[in-house]
Amino acid sequence: MVEMRRRSLVVLGSAIGLGVVGAGVVAVFGGRGPAEADGRSRAGADTRMARVLGAKQPERFVGIVVLDRRLRGRGVGGSVEALVEESRAVGGGDTVVRFGLGASLFEGAEVQSPRQLKVMPSFAGDLLDPAQSHGDLLVRVAGEDAGQVRKAVARVKAVANQAGWTVRWGIDGFRAENRVEGGRGLARNPFHFTEGFGNPETEQEVADRAVVREGQGEPDWAVGGSYHVVRVIRFATELWDKDSVPEQERIMGRRRDGKWLDGTPTAEQPNFAADPKGRRTPLDSHVRLAAPDRRNPPPLVRRSYSYDRGYGDTGIVFSCFQRDLAKGFEAVQKRLAGEALAKYVLTTGGGYFFVPPPGDAWVDALALA
Ligand code: HEM
Repeated sequence: MVEMRRRSLVVLGSAIGLGVVGAGVVAVFGGRGPAEADGRSRAGADTRMARVLGAKQPERFVGIVVLDRRLRGRGVGGSVEALVEESRAVGGGDTVVRFGLGASLFEGAEVQSPRQLKVMPSFAGDLLDPAQSHGDLLVRVAGEDAGQVRKAVARVKAVANQAGWTVRWGIDGFRAENRVEGGRGLARNPFHFTEGFGNPETEQEVADRAVVREGQGEPDWAVGGSYHVVRVIRFATELWDKDSVPEQERIMGRRRDGKWLDGTPTAEQPNFAADPKGRRTPLDSHVRLAAPDRRNPPPLVRRSYSYDRGYGDTGIVFSCFQRDLAKGFEAVQKRLAGEALAKYVLTTGGGYFFVPPPGDAWVDALALA
């Protein structure tokens, strides 16, 4: 058992640590316990976690698979370890495998769940299909090659099946025109707008918004992790494309290329206070509601992917990370109720998950449950 645990931890260390599944990565990031405990600085741990969250540039393709445990009564640790053990062969090259823990994984477990982790509620206008939402464990396969990602996803499904899990739902995503500008990862969404400008530039800023700290009242094993919100948002692209570009830009509150409607250059902050009636940037525009106070940006980091399931079912797999769910995603989502964009979008699925910190302390914590 100890041997098996050791092997599992090695696999996990490599899978969630930095990316490439291989012995070199394991040697650097497979250590036991939280990073701080074994002498490494918090800045180092922050950087590692920021990269797990795709800080520099999110991979071009993603395959999300959400699993449920077949035997509800079993210990959490056993199921997770077995899955991880079997996942060893998955990944390789630049394809990485990362995990997110759902609230239901902790049902009946002795280990303390992350304080704010819960089943994602239905927000105004949502039409959440339970068959496309929530779940025990999210597996996120990401990479630069669509074929490799697809293969790894198929492998994850097969090993999960053998390790006692069933596939609850899944979705594939891609980032069109994926690139980095001024330190920010940008991509174009199916509404033809470039996303990513409102994200932080540096890995440290990403960590400051996204990484759970000590003193937040979270269980020890969760310090260094991050809350991950996934929302499958379908776009009414045909309806949207009937609007003129200036009309679309007033709905978003920015030009397609990121310039501000009041003429402020892309990389600077607009002066919303000088436009109280919303003549330049409408009050119900997306950015104005999402981030009204330009000096205090919402504490979340967005990493969305586009999806296209054919037959007009296109949209985004909205994805964001934060250290505090209520102050991050939930505060913004509530402000967005009634935005001009609402009539073009429908959230049909997704969930709340918790990305465990790099290292293997969390597996030990679950296994002890
Ligand atoms: C419904 C589909 C959505 C679309 C098409 C969309 C698109 C965009 C675009 C084009 C921008 C401006 C560029 C940028 O800063 O990235 C933006 C900004 C932003 N969006 Fe969204 N978004 C969507 C959903 C959401 C959701 C669900 C949230 C969170 C609840 C959100 C939060 C934000 C935030 C915080 C900003 C940055 C505002 C700023 O700092 O100026 N978005 N979004």
